Amino acid sequence: MRESLIPERELHSMAHALLGWQLPERPEEIPSVAWLVERLRSSTVDWRLLRELVHFDAAGYTRRTVARTPACELLLISWLPGQASCVHDHGGSGGVSWLVQGELRETRYAWAGDRLAPETAVRADEGDVLVELSDTIHRIDNASRHGAVSLHLYAPPMQGMTRYEPVRPPELVRPRRPQAVSGGPGRRRRPRAT
Ligand SMILES: [Fe+2]
Repeated sequence: MRESLIPERELHSMAHALLGWQLPERPEEIPSVAWLVERLRSSTVDWRLLRELVHFDAAGYTRRTVARTPACELLLISWLPGQASCVHDHGGSGGVSWLVQGELRETRYAWAGDRLAPETAVRADEGDVLVELSDTIHRIDNASRHGAVSLHLYAPPMQGMTRYEPVRPPELVRPRRPQAVSGGPGRRRRPRAT
């Protein structure tokens, strides 16, 4: 994952230019995650500016901080086909992910004792929102054949998100192949030209 950093002085005006409203400065101005969902979805997005902020990178999905206040932060993530996040939480923050282009898949994880295992998977299409609560653990990936772009609004600004290694269900583990026996039947590999 690559992160683009915008100078702090530019962050304050970016959200207003992009969404048509100013991000709250004080935590008490954000009563709930539902408020964030409603506020984000009622935005009048400057689509030309949004396209300028999108940045695809073959090395991994890119995450750009569009705006940050003491109360919340706005991120824009660009995903090429096949790119995925790790399994992660949000460091105690809650928020909403709004898919503004393409499609993404969200896999949610749950604890089974001390093990973390996939619980549900949903496909989000353009215009859909995914709500993330303070205890949500998930993985996002672009399983489609086209680029995807998502806007994420979190409160408070995310700090110290945790990455997890999920337990793979046995059916997802590829069985080990038996060791090849030299001299046995099979196709012979031709010597490679150098
Ligand atoms: Fe997330």
